Amino acid sequence: MEGVSRVTTQTFRRMKAESLPIAVLTAYDYTMARILDRAGVDALLVGDSASNVISGHETTLPITLDHMIYHAQSVVRAVERAFVIVDLPFGSYQGNSQQALTSAIRVMKEAGAHAVKIEGGRSVLSAIEIIHQTGIPIMGHLGLTPQSIYHFGTYKVRATDPQEADQLREDALELQNAGCFAIVLEKIPAQLAQEISLSLTIPTIGIGAGNACDGQVLVTHDALGLNNDFNPRFVRRYLNLEDSMDSAVRNYVDDVRTRSFPSLQESY
Ligand code: KIV
Repeated sequence: MEGVSRVTTQTFRRMKAESLPIAVLTAYDYTMARILDRAGVDALLVGDSASNVISGHETTLPITLDHMIYHAQSVVRAVERAFVIVDLPFGSYQGNSQQALTSAIRVMKEAGAHAVKIEGGRSVLSAIEIIHQTGIPIMGHLGLTPQSIYHFGTYKVRATDPQEADQLREDALELQNAGCFAIVLEKIPAQLAQEISLSLTIPTIGIGAGNACDGQVLVTHDALGLNNDFNPRFVRRYLNLEDSMDSAVRNYVDDVRTRSFPSLQESY
């Protein structure tokens, strides 16, 4: 990929101005990140969804800052073009803007990431301001914010009532004013996401938020069909990798057991 120009926050601003949708996927490791980058994904999100899809936890709460930095280092090593955004995990920024800044600086220094993402509205504004003032690009995340799952009590669509919708509109503006370069809108009504996207000068990146957002993000494991048990309405499956892998691995086991692998050509 010689001479490839890197995606930056300027690229996102220009894409929004030119109504060019931004394609984002999650990545947690070198091999996957290399494939996604070469396929033209604009940004890779090292999401704390690693807690679910890599480590098998029920929620995103257990993953630590050290784990996130480890995943981010692997992704950054693979990438030549895409912009790499890293989630600050639960407990590394809430309620303490100095701790938020320290966590963001660790991610930038130790992983070589390009930006950080944090979940929440007005309660994290001071953290966003201080991170932004330090020169670190920061992405917001509103709507269904999985780090607050025990507060919500359910993964169902957020902001369906007018009061929560109003609060979300206000939070989006506050996040923009505090310096976010983009905002993820997760699992909210498409109409509300459209209104917010039109009201902001920074891009919105939707997941379960309809197609009027300025970009879309999916968890790569969902898009590639690596977990047949997880079928929410907002996921489009581009592959059924779980079934393909299952049959490939069964073939391998069979070949080993019948001594048809390795063949003479595969031996020295
Ligand atoms: O952690 C993650 O994968 C995310 C996306 C779902 C936006 O935050």
